[in-house]
Formats: sequence, structure tokens, C-alpha cells
Amino acid sequence: MLQLLALGAIGILVVRQLYTAVYNLYFHPLASFPGPKLWIAFPVLRYISQCRGIFDQQMVKYHERYGEVVRFDDVSLSFTTAQAWKDIYGYGHGQHQWPKPEFRPPGSTDHILFSNDANHARFRKGLSHAFSDQALRKQEHLIKDYVDMLVTALHGEAESGKQVDMTMWYNLTTFDIISDLAFGEPSNCLKNKEYGEFITRIFKFFPIVPFVALARFYPLVWRLISLFIGGRVAKARMDLFQMGHDAVTKRKNDTSKNGRGDFMESLLKYSDNKEKITDAELAGNAHILFLAGSETTATLLAGVTFWMLRTPGTMKKAVEEVRSAFDKEQEITFSSASTKLPYMLACLEEGLRMYPPVPTVLIRTTTEAATVSGYTVPKGTQLGVHQMSTYWSPANFHEADVFHPERWLPSAVDDADSPFYNDNRDARQPFSVGPRNCIGKNLAFSEMRQILARVLWNFDLEMVDKDLDWPNQKAYTVWQKGPLVCSIKLRKDLL
Ligand code: HEM
Repeated sequence: MLQLLALGAIGILVVRQLYTAVYNLYFHPLASFPGPKLWIAFPVLRYISQCRGIFDQQMVKYHERYGEVVRFDDVSLSFTTAQAWKDIYGYGHGQHQWPKPEFRPPGSTDHILFSNDANHARFRKGLSHAFSDQALRKQEHLIKDYVDMLVTALHGEAESGKQVDMTMWYNLTTFDIISDLAFGEPSNCLKNKEYGEFITRIFKFFPIVPFVALARFYPLVWRLISLFIGGRVAKARMDLFQMGHDAVTKRKNDTSKNGRGDFMESLLKYSDNKEKITDAELAGNAHILFLAGSETTATLLAGVTFWMLRTPGTMKKAVEEVRSAFDKEQEITFSSASTKLPYMLACLEEGLRMYPPVPTVLIRTTTEAATVSGYTVPKGTQLGVHQMSTYWSPANFHEADVFHPERWLPSAVDDADSPFYNDNRDARQPFSVGPRNCIGKNLAFSEMRQILARVLWNFDLEMVDKDLDWPNQKAYTVWQKGPLVCSIKLRKDLL
């Protein structure tokens, strides 16, 4: 009898799955949009692809096959056009943004990245001081101190003839900078030449993030998986949160640190005068700022260094530019690096295209029927621009698979004879657009220019593994980037 009941239950499940698959493929309001049939019929496969870190690479292939709009599960569409940025994320005159799905793991605190629009506005206002031009000027000396430490450490490595992993060195630097701005003290990465416990936990946490999305949409599948890893996920999250919380409490109580223009000062100032930001929200925001502001910047620096080393002509040009623009290293400041180095800046722009630090699709949901990039989209559709597919598309960029910094120089933008004249530059928005775009964009550019210029000023780098397959990496919202091992020499005329 029990066996019969079990068989009956399994039968009902199978029939239900088949019914849903047929409905998804042929009768769903999105049925006319092209996409991978298996993912549309069985959406759990898309989440599994994310858990395996291969979702973004697969999306590039699907866009190549199906074109500028791809249906990538039952309810989701991905676009690769400039117009889609405007229509989805509310960028430009008269545009409004579609809301972010409220995506917060159970038990976690609200913060700027995953909050609803009302809380988001409160947090964004609370942080606005910390990202103003005035704050950036205050932060410059703090950031410079860490770049000095990086350069000194690399001098030591160069003198001892060691090979260096530039991915690690960039990460050590940006983790220290953002830790100081978010928590009021460095994570001592550069001092100890290692990531330390907090950051090692963060690296371990990134691959777990897609499992949290899986849990949200498939509680049953999640229950099965959590038999094996559930405890580990919960513990990783709690440990990370507790460490962040302790650091924030310490910074909050240390009033001697006020006046340095850091993130906490901005939040506390706002919190005192206006709507209260609770201690848990302070910790949640500090935590997310730390994650959002460190890994992304280091990723771009590693990516651009890889591409410049892979195309030695670009590296040579950028090095010559930096070394001829300044008489002394001390002249490299936020301001001079942003005005005197057009070619190096173009390398950073092209790095953001070839290796966007957030390569994936940032999901929004339509709350009514809408026109997106010329397509009619029903209410309740989850949609976004898939960054990697957009930036690597030959429909948007001439020789899209080649690192060409020239495409960002004024000569290419203005000269109709340039092969890059018709590049669709507005399709590339690595910091996203609209009211929920990256609040740290200016800080990120200041950091990246300063760090790259100082590295190029001082050192000659050479990639050790000439065949390194850098673009073929896994990604879990951010890249799972590997080591970038280089031989490093102090430039000859400094010896
Ligand atoms: C190259 C470096 C960076 C890139 C490419 C980047 C990219 C992005 C993107 C694409 C978003 C939108 C996320 C979404 O819609 O879910 C975002 C949001 C955000 N970023 Fe960045 N980011 C970078 C550096 C930074 C830095 C240095 C900070 C400073 C701490 C920062 C803080 C944030 C915050 C707080 C948000 C949420 C903003 C909001 O929801 O209002 N980012 N970033």
C-alpha cells in the first residue's frame, strides 16, 4: 500500500513537471522569446548552472545563438542593448527603474544593495557624504598610504627576484583600503602579506551565494542540498556578519576617527539627524560596502593588467605615457592621474569591457506590461542586461574579442574613419545606471588610476604563464579569478 502511495506521489510530481514544462515552452506569455529550451522547461537548471559558476559563460553562448534578447528560464529575459539599460534601470530623462526583487537571505539585515526602494533611499542618502567630491579629497591621503605600502612591498619582491601574483597584491591593497573606510581600520593584508581570516571567509562565501538564490526559488531542492551544506552556509554567513558587527561597534565608539570622511562617519551623521539607522543596519551596510568596494576594484586591476600583458603594445604605450607624464612619483595624485594619462585611462575603460567586475545580469521585475528595447514584455517578467554578453557582442563592438583601448580615445569617438567610430559605447555600463547604480564609481576610478599608475611607474611586469586562459573563468556574481603570476623588475632607470 505504502509503495503504491509513493509511486502515485512520484507519478503526480512527474506529470506536474511535464505539464509545467509544456506550458513554459508553448503557452507562457514569454513563449515567443527565444532561449535554451531546457532552461525554459526546467528553470532549476539555470540555477544549477549558477551554482556551478558557468551561468555567465553559457549566457554569452545563448546570446550568440539567439540574439539581443534571450529567455533564460520560465520568467526571465536578458538583453544586450543600450536601450535596455535605459528601459530597465531607469537611466535618462523621464525613465523609471523597475524594482529589484527583494532578495535577502532569511535572518540577514537590510542593507543598500538588497533593500526595498524606501529603505534604499534612506541608506543611499546616509552614504551620500562619504561618496562626495569633498569626502574623496579627504580620503586621498588614506588611500595613498596603502598604495605606498603596496609599492614598497613590491619593491621588496622585485629586489629578491621573486615572482608575484598580481591578483593577490591588488586584492590585499583594495581590501585594506575599503576595510579602513568601512570599519575604521585596515584588515592588515598588506602588512602581513596575506588575506587573513575575515577575507578568506569572504572568498569562501562567494560560491555559496547562488545556493541562496536556489533556496529562495526551490525550497524543496534547497532542503535536500542543505542536508549536506546547509549548516556550513548558515555558519559562514553568521561568522561573517559577527566579524563585521564587532568592527563597526568598535569604529562607532572611536570618535577620534570622525573627520576622516569615511563611510561610517557619513552614516552616523545622517542617522543622528534624520531617520534612524539601527546598529544592525550600520553593520549590514558596512559589510556590503566592504564586499562591493574591494573585490570589484581588485578584479578590474587584475583584468586590465592581464589584458595589457597579453597585448604588449598596449602595455608599452601605457608605461611610456606614465613615465613621461611625471618627473617624480609623488606627482601622481587623484587629480593628475585623471588628467595626464589618457591612454592608461582608456586601458581601464577597455578593461571594464573585456572583464566587467560584475559580469552577470542584475535582475529587475516589471510591475506592469512594458516596452523594453522595442519588445513588449508582460507584467511580472524578471529582466536585465547581461553585462558579459553585451560587452563581448560583435553587434556592439568592432573586434569585440580584442583588447583595443583606442576605442575609448576621443579620436575614435569623433573620427568617422576610425574602425571603432560606430562602437555602441552606451551599451557598456559596468557600474550599472539609474538610482541604484554604483555609488562607489568615482572612488573606484580614483583608486584604480592611482594604483595602476604607481605600479607602471615603478615596475616592469611580465606574465609567467604566456598561455593563461584568463577569460575562461567561473563566476559567482563576481569572477572567481585565479592568480596572475608575473615576474617583476624595478624599472631600469630607478635602479
Ligand atoms: C570597478 C569597480 C566597481 C564596479 C565595476 C562596481 C559595479 C557595481 C554595480 C554593477 C552595481 C549595481 C549592483 C546592482 O544593481 O545590484 C554596484 C552597486 C554598488 N556598489 Fe559598486 N562597483 C565597483 C566599485 C565599488 C566601490 C569602490 C564601492 C565603495 C565601497 C562600491 C559600492 C557599491 C554600493 C554600495 C552599491 C549599491 C548601490 C545602490 O544600491 O544604491 N562599488 N556596483
